Amino acid sequence: MGATAFAQGNNYVQDYTKYQNLALTPPMGWNSWNKFACNVDENMIKQMADAMVSTGMKDAGYTYINIDDCWHGDRDEQGFIHPDPTRFPNGMKALADYVHSKGLKLGIYSDAGSQTCGGRPGSRGYEFQDAQTYASWGIDYLKYDWCNTEGLKAEGAYKTITAALKKAGRPIVLSICEWGNDKPWDWGQNVGHLWRTTGDIYNCFDCIKDHGTWKAFGVMEILDKQEGLRQYAGPGHWNDPDMLEVGNGKLTPGEDRAHFTMWAMLAAPLIAGNDLRSMSKETIEVLTNKQVIAINQDRLGIQGFKVSADAGLEVWAKPLENGDWAIAFLNRSTEAKQINFDWATTKIYDDINKISPDFKSVYTIKNLWDKKDNGKATTKKAFTAQVPAHDIITLRLTPKK
Ligand code: GLA
Repeated sequence: MGATAFAQGNNYVQDYTKYQNLALTPPMGWNSWNKFACNVDENMIKQMADAMVSTGMKDAGYTYINIDDCWHGDRDEQGFIHPDPTRFPNGMKALADYVHSKGLKLGIYSDAGSQTCGGRPGSRGYEFQDAQTYASWGIDYLKYDWCNTEGLKAEGAYKTITAALKKAGRPIVLSICEWGNDKPWDWGQNVGHLWRTTGDIYNCFDCIKDHGTWKAFGVMEILDKQEGLRQYAGPGHWNDPDMLEVGNGKLTPGEDRAHFTMWAMLAAPLIAGNDLRSMSKETIEVLTNKQVIAINQDRLGIQGFKVSADAGLEVWAKPLENGDWAIAFLNRSTEAKQINFDWATTKIYDDINKISPDFKSVYTIKNLWDKKDNGKATTKKAFTAQVPAHDIITLRLTPKK
């Protein structure tokens, strides 16, 4: 039987590896879900693209405008998926053209199962057709979710959509979203460009939201779940601790800063999840802090690590290009904390890359959230400061010439 099949001479071989040279630094963009859930339509998406440009976010490095769940209409008789005709009357191609005309990229969402989490048509059984459709629309990024996947195995299901995207011939970033269930860090590196490591984020700094059959996690809870994963991140393949809640009204300015900075330290995708059309000055300042973004976008792509934790005060470090280091003092406690950080006596060691800052030589210190920083501090002296409750101080150390 096998011999007969071979004799028929099908030479097509599926390629289960992702597009290379995409997402060489963590993807930056915006996604509709955290703020709008199922309320998506083409006008809102276009306005978000406009706002990404007018607020300076594009200049700061944000590129992707990602439509999450619920854009879908029905499949036609041939199985092709169409957007909801009321919400997207001009279709996805026109929307992609608009987003591209702003110098941005368009992302879309589907699901490996029969239906999306929001009950819209999933891609199971239609993977190649859907990938071809997305490519014909000009889609640049696909978030691929994991609801209603009865009996499927994650690695195989994600390899199928990767093969389908490859076959469709358009470089599309693949965002694996199976919540870390099947350890995507073990098999995802050649399959997708980022993978969710946890369940959904919940819009609070330090709490867990129990939805009965599933839980959503506050910013600190998500942070703690990243432990042990840093070795899997690098250019083109990132741990994804979920989208940002910055500017969504539940976090204080200090908590927004801490959330944003920690995602930067983790080399996490920076996908804003707020309404870009109506941001406060504070929110814009957080989302467009170019020096913090530079830590995230550093070309080495090394995920940061925790140096120490003491009564709610954590010290984090991230090795950067040219011998620079980012150091963050995260205060998770509800009281202000005094830091008196003596560089010479503190051991900061990246045990994956086997590197340490060398405090026998001198580094200049730039305080990235302090507008009054005069750039004169160095590691010759201990660093002293007070970190308010639920806030962060973030430094960039540069070897002194
Ligand atoms: C899942 C994902 C979320 C979002 C919703 C959409 O919960 O983890 O990020 O995409 O589905 O229904």
